[in-house]
Amino acid sequence: MRKMSRFLAIAWLAPLLALGCRHPERARSAAAPPRPTQYQLHLGKSVFQAYCVPCHGDAGAGDGSNAFNLDPHPRDLSDPQFQKTKTNAELVDTIRRGGAGVGMSSLMPPWGHTLNDRQIEAVVAYVRSLKR
Ligand code: HEC
Repeated sequence: MRKMSRFLAIAWLAPLLALGCRHPERARSAAAPPRPTQYQLHLGKSVFQAYCVPCHGDAGAGDGSNAFNLDPHPRDLSDPQFQKTKTNAELVDTIRRGGAGVGMSSLMPPWGHTLNDRQIEAVVAYVRSLKR
């Protein structure tokens, strides 16, 4: 009788566990990064406005007040065609190590000493949200 009830408990649990594994939230997180929270977008926006706007412009279009000094110009970060070519990890890497760290122009400064990981991930989420 004891064995029987243990078997029943397992028989009930197995389909529940299987369902849990197919939970859509988990399936999505394996493919794409999780959607940013409002808090993350808010933090990302304040980081972008404090550190990035002078070169990248208010909306990331590459038209900041300092952009005319820069050769090459920063590209339009809000361009969906551009965004498709880069993963979040690549953007994080460029921001953390700067242009020189990833074989691009050294006019893009490295931010790894100024911004922590949470701020860098938030600013990437914000840049993604600028999509035209
Ligand atoms: C002093 C000017 C300057 C500032 C400030 C600056 N950037 Fe840049 N950034 C550049 C330039 C110039 C490039 C283009 C480098 C190239 O194309 O070789 C660039 C490139 C980038 C790229 C790579 C785009 C690509 O083509 O892959 C990202 C992402 C980026 N910047 C994010 C940021 C973020 C986020 C901040 C603020 C934390 C920031 N930048 C601040 C000048 C700047």
